[in-house]
Amino acid sequence: VDLKDKCAVVTGGANGIGAALCRRFAAAGVRTLVVADLDEANARAVAEEVGGTPALLDVRSPTAIAALVEHIWSDTAPIDLFCSNAGIAVAGGPETADAQWTACWEVNVMAHVWAARALVPRMLARGGGTLLNTCSAAGLLTQIGSASYSVTKHAAVGFAEWLAITYGGQGLRVSVLCPQAVRTQMTAGSEGGGVAGVNGMMEPPEVAEAVVLGLREERFQILPHPEVHEYVLRKASDIDRWIGGMQRLQARFSADGMHRKG
Ligand SMILES: NC(=O)c1ccc[n+]([C@@H]2O[C@H](COP(=O)([O-])OP(=O)(O)OC[C@H]3O[C@@H](n4cnc5c(N)ncnc54)[C@H](O)[C@@H]3O)[C@@H](O)[C@H]2O)c1
Repeated sequence: VDLKDKCAVVTGGANGIGAALCRRFAAAGVRTLVVADLDEANARAVAEEVGGTPALLDVRSPTAIAALVEHIWSDTAPIDLFCSNAGIAVAGGPETADAQWTACWEVNVMAHVWAARALVPRMLARGGGTLLNTCSAAGLLTQIGSASYSVTKHAAVGFAEWLAITYGGQGLRVSVLCPQAVRTQMTAGSEGGGVAGVNGMMEPPEVAEAVVLGLREERFQILPHPEVHEYVLRKASDIDRWIGGMQRLQARFSADGMHRKG
């Protein structure tokens, strides 16, 4: 996809990876850019910087997502690229409170479903469009220290695969963005990015660069950290050996997966 003169929406666009996507999309010449986030102040600041439009959006609300899509589509322009990028991470295992599991499901998975519900019929009717869903390397491998993040990011990858398979023949393009550690609010305070940072912390603009390249090449998987491809191959070719390796990695980190032991 060539971004010039396109209409793009980025959820979670106020900070971190989403803000970097907005800046990079603006540099690529998008015509309309909507910076959608719960964080109204930073959404406004990013929108002002990139010549975009801020939108207050809670992606946990299916009606709010539908209303935003409807509003942009009918008042401004058909949406060419919708980035479901907002995401949250909670440390812990099965003891994680149900309310936190629900929040992770809604933000990390259902928001992608609700966006697709509003967008897919419209995009198919005009012959195509692109969905970029920010998942994580945790959705292909796992997240040491967070069951809810691992599970919901896997589900998000699964949903995107299904969309690509089902609607690809009708012109819908779907990509999953699966980075390892990136220096944002989400990883702040976890020295070296915690366990996800074993291959080093990436800066958000580098991730955005990989996204523009991946979108241009219409790749399903966008992997800013190239090591992830190798890990996925290892996991697929010998799962028991891979689990053993991950157990050794787990042993190097404390229970929340955020701090190195010793
Ligand atoms: N930082 C990393 O290491 C890393 C690695 C892999 C994947 N990711 C994923 O990248 C995406 C962006 O994360 P980030 O690292 O930039 O973190 P971040 O915390 O800097 O940004 C997340 C943004 O999402 C917004 N948001 C959260 N809940 C929302 C809601 N209910 N409605 C609307 N907006 C909401 C926040 O206000 C924030 O602006 C997430 O999906 C995250 O899971 C991050």
